[in-house]
Amino acid sequence: MEEAGLILSSIFDDIAQHIVPGVTTLDLDAFIAQEIVKRGLTSRMKGYMGYKHVSCISVNEQVVHGVPSATKYIAAGDLVKVDVCTAFKGYCADMARQFYVGDIAAAPKVQAFVQAADRALNAGIAKALPGNRLGDISAAIQHEVEQAGYGVVRDFAGHGIGKLMHEDPEILNYGKPGQGPVLRSGMAFALEPMITMGDYAVCIAEDGWTVVTEDNSLACHVEDTIVITDHGPKIITRTGQNRYGI
Ligand code: MF3
Ligand code: CO
Repeated sequence: MEEAGLILSSIFDDIAQHIVPGVTTLDLDAFIAQEIVKRGLTSRMKGYMGYKHVSCISVNEQVVHGVPSATKYIAAGDLVKVDVCTAFKGYCADMARQFYVGDIAAAPKVQAFVQAADRALNAGIAKALPGNRLGDISAAIQHEVEQAGYGVVRDFAGHGIGKLMHEDPEILNYGKPGQGPVLRSGMAFALEPMITMGDYAVCIAEDGWTVVTEDNSLACHVEDTIVITDHGPKIITRTGQNRYGI
């Protein structure tokens, strides 16, 4: 899994330069598909419940599961969330990052929002310690998001991960500390806060996949795969110092 995570995160290092005005989300998926093959990974999204692509690309009010499309053009000022799950030697890593098209410092409201999602993910990861409970992770994510004044999507969640992309348990992005199963060394989780600038209610678009905010407010999604160890959480979908440092 560590190898899977390291290789997958290296693809993300190269994605940003392709997220420019005028490309379609299908173009981006094609680039990712090419890199997956080049680096010896296999897609775990393609073929999953009939899904036809190697990535989910969700723009602005699209929260998650955005279906790459030849008619969905990226424009300046878009907030693009890219989610990819791949396997290496049969073991999975699942990862999502958010990319702003343009200078995010010139869009302080979006910047604060994106930073809140990143902080929420880190707050959840920081609770992934042996002896803690699953609810400690959920509650930490919810607290971080709501403290910043944003909404936590209830209808989708993080998950256990290993030989399969989705394994037990489901990891809600809201909950109460001290509740749920006790965490143990060796458990592997994909944590993925999904947050909204407005109401947290979401609906599914006509394509049957894309999850959109009901009020069309902006949404963020970021995801890392982590492994709980006796020395703390190891973030396998980050490189370098970031792998250990929370
Ligand atoms: N990788 C997503 C997740 O974080 C799931 C994508 S669903 C798929 O759980 F069908 F697109 F694969
Ligand atoms: Co996931």
